Amino acid sequence: MQLVVPKETRSGERRVAATPANISKLTKFGFEVVIESDAGVSSLYSDENYLEAGAKITKDIASAVKNADVVASVSILSPELSKILKSGAVCLSFAQAKRDKESIAAIKNAKATLLSFDFVPRISRAQSADALTSQATVSGYHTMVTAASLLPKMFPLVMTASGTIRPSRVLVIGAGVAGLQVMAVAKKLGAIVSGYDVRTASKDEVKSVGATFIELDLPVVEGSGGYAKEMDQERTKLQQELLTPHISATDVLVTTAAVPGRPAPRLVTAAMLKGMKVGSVIADMAAESGGNVEGSVPGEIVELNGVKIWGGLNIASAMAPDASFLYSGNVISLLSFIVKEEKIVIDQEDEVVSGSALLINGEVTNDFVKTELGQG
Ligand code: NAI
Repeated sequence: MQLVVPKETRSGERRVAATPANISKLTKFGFEVVIESDAGVSSLYSDENYLEAGAKITKDIASAVKNADVVASVSILSPELSKILKSGAVCLSFAQAKRDKESIAAIKNAKATLLSFDFVPRISRAQSADALTSQATVSGYHTMVTAASLLPKMFPLVMTASGTIRPSRVLVIGAGVAGLQVMAVAKKLGAIVSGYDVRTASKDEVKSVGATFIELDLPVVEGSGGYAKEMDQERTKLQQELLTPHISATDVLVTTAAVPGRPAPRLVTAAMLKGMKVGSVIADMAAESGGNVEGSVPGEIVELNGVKIWGGLNIASAMAPDASFLYSGNVISLLSFIVKEEKIVIDQEDEVVSGSALLINGEVTNDFVKTELGQG
């Protein structure tokens, strides 16, 4: 069986789906591993590193994809490469119905299978395949150290005979995987950290990383599977009013709030920032998916009344070697659900397989994709 890893083509993408350290695990599954030349360069892995690890290097990615049994990538395969897949081939990548519609349609027409890391069920058995979690961990770390470096103030309490500096305050809205990582890093740096989330379960998680949970007097809205649900306008307005004094009191505000399948909720309006001190910093991790903060621009730092607003853009890519290493492990884990005795077996009875699958041999198996491709 041939497993092919193309060089990522999305602008600014530095990650790679397999790292040299993991090649031997792929060959143990029975794969011959073919890596596109320079695929690992932005993650600091050279072609030589892959060759030494037992992979093959190709400059002709189209021929490799034509013969591939499995293609593993970070972003979904391009529409051009998707349409030349052989029937029954399996693609593994992040993939969302709306954003990646063109490639999904091409993979469908090729009668291939697509497993998406955006849909791996959040259950114990699938934890090691949970790339959303691994990449959110990296993103949370990078966001916090970036925000700290933009703040012209120290994080920890400093008490010396020569003077005292009061610790900085960090407020994190959205206490999912990324938000908790942000809080943990801020805490390690010495800040006074607080966190808020709509999900009641997050209270204990926030406390477990040493932060204070902010309770707002709001009715609880919770979606299914531990995810948040979109809020109505009235509740959004009330949440904004209640959060404003907390925002005014903080030196760094980090927002991470997301709602699956929907644009990120607008949690912070420009008016809510008026009370922030000059020099304060906001990091909007959701800038790319619509933005939690009014005025944030993905990939840029904008300034509003002396407050810097950093907009995240493909954040995990900024720490590509580690992000790729973790992602590569998630690829191996997801493969372990579909490779049995050196053969690919798509077992739809397995909830990890059926949950992750957007397409199986060209059949649409995911409701979001059905709606997007007009079959729902
Ligand atoms: P996410 O990236 O989808 O969203 C980030 C956070 O924003 C969530 O905690 C969400 O509740 C919050 N949020 C959404 N709207 C908000 C609003 N209006 N105001 C404040 N906060 C808002 O979240 P992530 O990190 O993907 O986690 C989602 C769920 O999955 C959580 O319940 C988490 O504990 C769970 N999970 C379970 C895992 C497992 O069992 N293996 C692994 C990772 C996550």
